[in-house]
Amino acid sequence: MTFKPLRKAVFPVGGLGTRFLPATKALPKEMLPIVDRPLIQYAVDEAIEAGIEQMIFVTGRGKSAIEDHFDIAYELETTMAQRGKSLDLLHQTRLKPGAVAYVRQQEPMGLGHAVWCARDIVGDEPFAVLLADDFMVGGAGRPGCLKQMVDAYNRTGGNLICAQEVPDDQTHMYGIITPGARDGALTEVKGLVEKPAAGTAPSNLSVIGRYILQPEVMRVLEGQEKGAGGEIQLTDAMARMIGDQPFHGVTFAGRRFDCGDKAGFIQANLALALGRDDIGPAVRDFARAALANEA
Ligand code: UTP
Repeated sequence: MTFKPLRKAVFPVGGLGTRFLPATKALPKEMLPIVDRPLIQYAVDEAIEAGIEQMIFVTGRGKSAIEDHFDIAYELETTMAQRGKSLDLLHQTRLKPGAVAYVRQQEPMGLGHAVWCARDIVGDEPFAVLLADDFMVGGAGRPGCLKQMVDAYNRTGGNLICAQEVPDDQTHMYGIITPGARDGALTEVKGLVEKPAAGTAPSNLSVIGRYILQPEVMRVLEGQEKGAGGEIQLTDAMARMIGDQPFHGVTFAGRRFDCGDKAGFIQANLALALGRDDIGPAVRDFARAALANEA
C-alpha cells in the first residue's frame, strides 16, 4: 500500500468547553493561555513543526477570537509600531495567506462530526487532527508530538493515533486501544472502544488528541450513528478502519497535560512557567512559600 504525504491538519474547536464555564462563556476554550500563548497557538506551532501546510479549523458560534488571533491586527500593529515596540510576537501568530481555512460545525454533535465537517477541504488526502486542549510538550531537544507521529507515519503509512497509559480508574474517560504487537514506541491497534464501562477496558492504553488519518475515515463518518454520550465519535469510525489499512498507536516521548480539565490546565501553566527564564524564578519562590505555608 502507498500513502500520500501529510500536508493538512484539522483543528476541531467547535466544542462547548462546559468544564471551564464561566471562563468559556464568551471565550473559546482554545484561547485560554498557557503562560502567554493560547492553547491553539501551541497546537498550530506543533503542526507547522511537523511540516503541515494547511490548517483547517472546525469552528462554531462564539469562536471568532480564534480567527482574529491568526489574522493581522492592524490597529495594534500600527499603534505598537508608532510607539517603537517590537512586532515579533504579533508576527508569530500570522499564518501564510491561503494556508488556513475555516469551516463551521453548526451544532456540537461530537468530535467525529466536527472532523466530518472538514471533508471537502481535506479532500482525498491523509490529514492530522489536533485537539488543542490536549497540550503536548516534547521537552528539551525533542520534537513535538505530531512530528514524532509523522516520523512514524513515514515508516508505517496508514492511520496513527497518539497513545498514552492511563490509570485503571480513568479508562472510562478515554478511547481505549486493544493492543497488538509492540515495536518501540509503536503499538499495533487491534481494536478501539470509546469510554468503556469501568472494569471492561481492553487495556490501559488510551487515545490522546493527536491523529493521522486516511481520507477513507470521512466516508465511514458519513453514515455514522451516535455513540457514547449521544455524540458522533471519531473513535467508532476509526475502529471500523482497523484491518483495512495499517493502524498504530504512537507513545509520545514527552509530557501531556489535559487542559480541558481545570487541574491539568493549572499544572500546564505551572510547568511552563517554572521552565521560563523570565518568570520562572519568581514563580518558583512563590510556589515554595505557598507549599511551605500549607505544610
Ligand atoms: P471535549 O470532549 O473536550 O468537549 O472535546 P468540549 O465541548 O470541548 O468541552 P467540555 O467537555 O464541555 O468541557 C474534545 C475536542 O473536540 C472538539 C472540542 O473543541 C475539543 O477540542 N469538539 C467536540 C468539537 O469540535 N465539536 C464537538 O461537537 C465536540
